[in-house]
Amino acid sequence: MSAEAIIARERAAYRAAHPASERMRERARRALLDGVPLHWMDLYALPYPFYLDRAEGNRVRDIDGNDYLDFGLCGTAALWGHSGAEILSELADDPGGGVVSGWPGEDSVRVAENLAGRFGLPLWQFTLSATDANRTALRLARLATGRPGVLAFTGCYHGNLDELTTAERVEFNDPPALERALARGDIAAVIAEPVRTTGGGIAAPDDGFHPRLRELTRAAGALLVVDETQTIVAGPAGVTGSGTGLDPDLLVLGKSFAFGLPIGAVGMTQPVADAFHAHTHPSNQGGLGGTLNAGQLPMRMARRCLETAMTEAAYRRMSAHAARLADGLDDAIRRAGLPWTVARLGAMVTCALPHNDPTLRDLLFLYLANRGVLVGCFGGAAVVSPHTTAADVDALLDAARAAITEIASEPPGPQPDRLR
Ligand SMILES: Cc1ncc(COP(=O)(O)O)c(C=O)c1O
Repeated sequence: MSAEAIIARERAAYRAAHPASERMRERARRALLDGVPLHWMDLYALPYPFYLDRAEGNRVRDIDGNDYLDFGLCGTAALWGHSGAEILSELADDPGGGVVSGWPGEDSVRVAENLAGRFGLPLWQFTLSATDANRTALRLARLATGRPGVLAFTGCYHGNLDELTTAERVEFNDPPALERALARGDIAAVIAEPVRTTGGGIAAPDDGFHPRLRELTRAAGALLVVDETQTIVAGPAGVTGSGTGLDPDLLVLGKSFAFGLPIGAVGMTQPVADAFHAHTHPSNQGGLGGTLNAGQLPMRMARRCLETAMTEAAYRRMSAHAARLADGLDDAIRRAGLPWTVARLGAMVTCALPHNDPTLRDLLFLYLANRGVLVGCFGGAAVVSPHTTAADVDALLDAARAAITEIASEPPGPQPDRLR
């Protein structure tokens, strides 16, 4: 069967299985931009998105009653599972704890102490998202250095930030290019994922890249911002805390560490904190803001998530499932003779396709969704949560093997249009 025929068949199957979502979409289009509450939810490689009925653990159900194993986990935001139960049981313990008050509580101290112990940075502030935390980190770096410039790595995503749409980019793993860009002397910060998880599959740093990155930024008087938002899949202290020689000036976390409640965190060294105080008026003009930031509810859930979910034992189990998934995919790909490359970072598995082929990526997403398996919508990462079982991994492998067999017998090649 040709690739076009596979795509047409899969799209027809999707439509047949999602009549209620199709009706909801028609209705939603009259009230929501593109029929969705956030524009990118309309960009899944499906004829139209399904609308959610419920989500629990690593499972979601749509309003047509279709069940899915969720390996997409909202781009790691739901890494610890769809956590209604955790949140409700925390609230049941003390529903009077409040949501947001503008006052500090012990939970925030416990969370900061926990993060300091994991990552080695002594002082912390909290935001509403990783995007927000990266923006804060870049602002602190500009205050501390008095410089305007920001340098990022090609293909790396750090959030929907104006600061980064204009930032200069250099290739990951290219110290000479980094050295040349830093030589101009106007760079306040280099922002980096310690292992690249965005931009077409996991890319590990070359041997010696991390120490060189640190050496070059120090020599140039630029600060190093490490974004562990997604690399926290690697282990309880992300990549930084596992002995990389990175020693960042600022570290950012987000997405998952309050069981998916909106939160971000910025860790900083004492010199960065001193620079903040030196440049910020006591009235907080030019300082850090946000009345919703560090509310009691997200702080409680961050404490609970860090203390009960983000444990060595949980990471060991998740990584073992992810390793079996990566091995199974690699085996199926090699048997089919396809030039795809599987990579893993802790609980995350990615599959790099030649030229990051968007048609093939979209085909795989649709094919798996039709068989009750969701992977990441941009880039196709599969992420294992503590709720994921060996049988769930087998279900993903079975669906992926079926796709690989069909694709290998009829490679899609370039298509005139994307799937939709
Ligand atoms: C590495 C990294 N940093 C930051 C962000 C921004 O996260 P959010 O959209 O939750 O603010 C993302 C989002 O995908 C990310 O992958």
